[in-house]
Amino acid sequence: MNANPYPSRLEKLREVLQVHQLDGLALNPGPDFKYLTGLNFHLMERPVVLLVPSSGTPALVLPELDSGKLDKLPFAVTDWQYSEDRSSWPVAFKAALQAAELEQANLGMIPRRLRVLELRYLEQAGPEVKFLPAQEALASLRMIKDPEEVAAMEEAVRIAQCALSTTLSVFEAGVTEKEIASKLVQWLLHHGSEPELPFFPIVSFGPNSANPHASPSDRPLTEGDLVLIDWGASVNGYCSDITRTFAFGDLNPELEKIGEFVHLANRAGREAVQPQVPARRIDQAAREVIISAGYREYFTHRTGHGLGLEAHEEPYLAADQETLLLPGMTFTVEPGIYLPGRGGVRIEDDLLVTEQGVRSLSTLPREVLRLDAEDPFGVERC
Ligand code: CO
Ligand code: CO
Repeated sequence: MNANPYPSRLEKLREVLQVHQLDGLALNPGPDFKYLTGLNFHLMERPVVLLVPSSGTPALVLPELDSGKLDKLPFAVTDWQYSEDRSSWPVAFKAALQAAELEQANLGMIPRRLRVLELRYLEQAGPEVKFLPAQEALASLRMIKDPEEVAAMEEAVRIAQCALSTTLSVFEAGVTEKEIASKLVQWLLHHGSEPELPFFPIVSFGPNSANPHASPSDRPLTEGDLVLIDWGASVNGYCSDITRTFAFGDLNPELEKIGEFVHLANRAGREAVQPQVPARRIDQAAREVIISAGYREYFTHRTGHGLGLEAHEEPYLAADQETLLLPGMTFTVEPGIYLPGRGGVRIEDDLLVTEQGVRSLSTLPREVLRLDAEDPFGVERC
C-alpha cells in the first residue's frame, strides 16, 4: 500500500502539463485539488488557489485562517496568506504568481471548477497570462485508479449495497419516496458513508420512475409500481453510484418486458468492456439491445460515466467517445428505458477495467425483483 501517493501524482502532473504544452496549472479546492494534495478546503467566499508550475515549487494562495492546513500538505509549497483585509488579497496573488514564475505562462485551469472570483484575481496579478483548459491533462491522470483508490470505491459500493439491503424491509404500500430516501440516507451513514454523499438518492415510484433524474416526492407506493432507486456512498471522497429497479406487486406486462430488456442491455454493456476498446463501443453494445427491442427513443441518455472522486467524471460512455478503455478505469454502465407517464427501468453497475477484462464492483442481483417478496436479495446480507 502506498500511504503517500501525492508526490508521484505531482510528478506525473508535471509530465502531462508539458505534454499539453502548459507551463503550469491553477487549481482551486475540489476533486482535482484533493487528488493532488489529499486536502479538503471548504470553498466559500474566500479564494484559495494552488499554482503548480511544470518545474519549480508550487505556490498556494490561502486565507490566514486556513494556515493550519499547510502542515498537512504532502509536498513543499511557498504559501501566500492573506488577511481579512481585502486589500491584501491581490497582493498575495501577485506574489504567488511571481514565486511560481508563471507571470507570462500558458496557465492551465479547469473551466468547470475555477470560479470567476479566482480567475479575476489571477488575471489582475498576471495580465500577460494565457488561460487554457487543462481538463484533459488532469483527466488522463485521474482516469486510471491506483489500488488505494479502487479499494475506497469498493468500500463505497459495499456500504451502498448494505444500506439498500437494510432499507428494503421498510417498503410497504403507502410509504412515500421521501420516506424511503431518508431511510436510505440514514443507513448509508450508519454503514459508514461519509456525510457528503455523492448525490442525494433518487427514489421514484410508478410514473415518476420515467424521469431519469427525479427527486423524491410525497408519492405513496402503490400496487403495480416500478420502484427505481439510484444511490451511492462516499469513502475518502470516492463515490459509488448504483441503480436497481424493483416491482411492487404485479407489473403491467409491458413494464415487465422493459425490465428484461434493460437487464439484457446492462449485461451486453458490461460484457463489451475490455482493455483497448473505445468507450463508444460500450454505449453501442447496450443501446443495440434496446433498439432491437423497439425502444430506441426511450433510452434518452448515454450509457455511463466515469466514477471516482466525482460521481460524474471521465471517461464518458457515449456514441462520440473514442477514449480507449484501460486497466484501472472505473465507470458506470447504466442503460434505461423510460415510458413517460408509466414508468422507467434503469440498472446501473460500477465497473473496473482489469488486465483480463472487467470486474463489476457492484454485485447486487440485477433483474427487476419483487419488493413484496419475502427477501428480495436472497442471501445478500451485510
Ligand atoms: Co446513478
Ligand atoms: Co450514474
